[in-house]
Amino acid sequence: MSRILLGVSGGIAAYKALELVRLATAAGHAVRVVQTPASRRFVGTASFAALTGAPVLVSEFEHDPARGAFPGQAPPAHEPIGHLQLVANADAYLIAPASANTLAKLAAGLADNLLTSCALAAHCPLLVAPAMNNRMYEHPATQANLATLRERGVIVVEPEAGRLASRGEQGIGRLAEPARLLAACEAALASPRQGLAGVKVLISAGGTREPIDSVRFIGNSSSGRMGLALAQAANRRGARVTVVAANVALPTPDGVRRRDVVTAAELQQACEQEFGDCDVLLMAAAVADFTPAHTSDGKLEKAERERLQIELQPTADVLAGLSARRREGQTLVGFAAEHGDRALERARGKLLDKRLDAIVVNDISRADVGFDVDHNEVTIISAAGERHVPRASKAQVAEAILDAVESLRPSG
Ligand code: CTP
Repeated sequence: MSRILLGVSGGIAAYKALELVRLATAAGHAVRVVQTPASRRFVGTASFAALTGAPVLVSEFEHDPARGAFPGQAPPAHEPIGHLQLVANADAYLIAPASANTLAKLAAGLADNLLTSCALAAHCPLLVAPAMNNRMYEHPATQANLATLRERGVIVVEPEAGRLASRGEQGIGRLAEPARLLAACEAALASPRQGLAGVKVLISAGGTREPIDSVRFIGNSSSGRMGLALAQAANRRGARVTVVAANVALPTPDGVRRRDVVTAAELQQACEQEFGDCDVLLMAAAVADFTPAHTSDGKLEKAERERLQIELQPTADVLAGLSARRREGQTLVGFAAEHGDRALERARGKLLDKRLDAIVVNDISRADVGFDVDHNEVTIISAAGERHVPRASKAQVAEAILDAVESLRPSG
């Protein structure tokens, strides 16, 4: 049983927080709730108090009859400082819904009410679940605030797209469903090993597309599954994760920062911008080796295509370029999709040529592992030796790769 502190800020979605409390308590967690004054206009404290079986607090100056204790916990003999005790006892602090205003305050480090004071004092994992109108969510100010929070290690439970509270409005900004909120909390609680705490991990994922004309491209069948599995696993180990996603149609794991790109050139630019700051690079994207020398502005007509010849020119080797400017303390991992008998030998060559710490090889001649499927089977090659990871889910393979990364890191 874990102790979850739930912060409820003002928003129509506050009613979903009641359902979250119901699910969390049914799952055996002890829950306490703090509310902002504005949130009481949407849901009253009595409902949360009844569902949690514990007092609900709104102000720092309010007396807490439970003295900061959670249900099932003995209150201390002394009168503690309310917000400090409450959050010190929590295993996770989830703010749901997190309004645009509350996110702005959190990003600025303000502590003007009990909910924000608790956030500032929190040592446990802090999760925020934004909920607001799509225009407020997409506003650069809100996005910048979320970026700041992610940068500090706050887990953002991304909102969902769909019908919004205001009549007839559609878009992104709906609070994540209560079951997802609970799952995000449990994932944060489960973080068994924080072996990458505070480590900045940059991951490239997916496959690049090189345009032939305005609608056609040369691409590959990489889905980004392996890269996102790595992102999720690294995040759980406490890393601050940025994914450069090339044409990835899958949702971003909660707590992970994402930059979308299309072409090899865009991927190169994004990776170069992020690389200087990262401690670990996991280059899982399938990057095109060639790109059309000329791209037609419009759509090529059939007549033009009857005898179409596309002249290709090589793209930059992004990983080799980054490796050439790597600094002390950075750990670089490449990925190689190989087939045939000489797969490992070729991968060893890439490890040396690109000056990597490790390379993860998978055999693409098999249909049951690798591209666009949920499983993978890899061999991780480093200077320390080779580790074969038998066929397993991409989540499990990701754990094996991160174990290798941890052992390769300077302090590992
Ligand atoms: N890679 C890259 N930029 C490229 C091509 C590849 O950064 N233009 C990276 C991939 O993301 C991967 C690693 O290099 O981590 C190995 O990719 P692979 O395509 O197997 O390497 P190549 O050097 O292109 O070898 P090959 O001739 O077998 O295609």
